[in-house]
Amino acid sequence: MTAEQKALYNRVYVWEFPVRLYHWLNGITVTLLIISGFLIGNPIRLFYANEAYQQYWFGTVRFIHFVSAYIFFFNFLVRIYWGFVGNTFARWSNFIPLKKKQWREIGQVLKVDILLADPSERMSVGHNSLAGFVYFLTFLAFAFQSLTGFALYSANSTSFFPRLFTWVIPLFGGDMAVRQWHHVFMWFFIVFIIIHLYLVFYHDYIEGRGTTSSMVGGWKFEKDEDLKNSND
Ligand code: HEM
Ligand code: HEM
Repeated sequence: MTAEQKALYNRVYVWEFPVRLYHWLNGITVTLLIISGFLIGNPIRLFYANEAYQQYWFGTVRFIHFVSAYIFFFNFLVRIYWGFVGNTFARWSNFIPLKKKQWREIGQVLKVDILLADPSERMSVGHNSLAGFVYFLTFLAFAFQSLTGFALYSANSTSFFPRLFTWVIPLFGGDMAVRQWHHVFMWFFIVFIIIHLYLVFYHDYIEGRGTTSSMVGGWKFEKDEDLKNSND
């Protein structure tokens, strides 16, 4: 690569440390919640020489679910706060498409992601408008999962925090219904993660701006249009 080609790219600090920390804590806890939740919903039969009451493996599965749930929930609250005080790429305005420009970008990204069109127009350096909107829906699903999860937990606990969610049970028409909704939403996250990983790697490839590693170091690489035009 020549010196001029190198100069075509600028480094942009996109994801601040709190966003990156949030992302990985969230990724780890959601993965643990899916695995442990799946086992709670579909317990496997383990054959041991000792009696059921002498084993504690299912208690450990539930313990993992609840510890992950608390970390997941408070981490989520920090991200909500950071949407008000973080840098321009972390703010809520990226997630809720209120501007015409954002809807245009949603159309453009749909063509790229579904029809595999060439990304002829430059995409936002932060989340593109479609990604931002999908993350917003994901945040709503996180809120739903927290409400239903702590409501289920309140039946096991006398402590102050879960007791704040007891009202959710009658709203849904009972424990069974809450548990079923909580189960159904797990599938939203499984599908989200599969598509998310595919799109992160796909956009990394087609945009060539360091999408994947940006969630590790925080940097993306932006073409300097003026320089590019003068060199074309
Ligand atoms: C992405 C987040 C989460 C996922 C994917 C998830 C998934 C699941 C699943 C699949 C079940 C089994 C439901 C069934 O089929 O019976 C479950 C149970 C449960 N979850 Fe979650 N969950 C999440 C977050 C939470 C949170 C934030 C809490 C809050 C404490 C929580 C508390 C519970 C409780 C109390 C149960 C019932 C446990 C039992 O009766 O043994 N979950 N979860
Ligand atoms: C190896 C695994 C993963 C990689 C490499 C990865 C990478 C990324 C990258 C690069 C972005 C920013 C994309 C953009 O430019 O718009 C992002 C955002 C995001 N990812 Fe992941 N991700 C991974 C796993 C997960 C998992 C398991 C979840 C769990 C649900 C998740 C949830 C999210 C969310 C909610 C955002 C929006 C972040 C924010 O602005 O707060 N990711 N991810």
